[in-house]
Amino acid sequence: MLTRCILGMDHGGLALRSVLVETLGSLGVELEDFGVHGPESVDYPDYAHRVAERVAAAWASAEQRVFGLLVCGSGQGMAMTANRHRGVRAALCEHALAAELARSHNNANVLCLGARLIGAGPAESALTAFVKTAYAGGRHDRRVAAIDAS
Ligand code: RB5
Repeated sequence: MLTRCILGMDHGGLALRSVLVETLGSLGVELEDFGVHGPESVDYPDYAHRVAERVAAAWASAEQRVFGLLVCGSGQGMAMTANRHRGVRAALCEHALAAELARSHNNANVLCLGARLIGAGPAESALTAFVKTAYAGGRHDRRVAAIDAS
């Protein structure tokens, strides 16, 4: 299970903030909160880069219980930015099955959500699945290694 979350969002993600923080708390996940906390307009890449740098550093030192959670309006800008970082595998998920597969098949270490596309219930389910699902390894190792080689 993933047990430490690095959270970043822009103003477009704020609507999901409270449900995600509550879900992390109920799962017993530690939180490193990089904001935002208010509705002022900000630039999502600033938050995505900070979270991705933190996650990449953690995984490079074998601290694989750490994951990123990035939320913006669509989730797209966060995913695009985070995936520029070597060692980061950010997955944009709109439901629990997508999150489960991103963990078990792709060993995703950042979950991206689009607050304008996903409701509170599916967001909670996707986050819970992401946190609880282990990477399956085996046949997926070769493919995940190929992602990271690019
Ligand atoms: C902000 O208006 C919006 O562009 C951002 O939250 C996100 O959807 C970008 O991908």
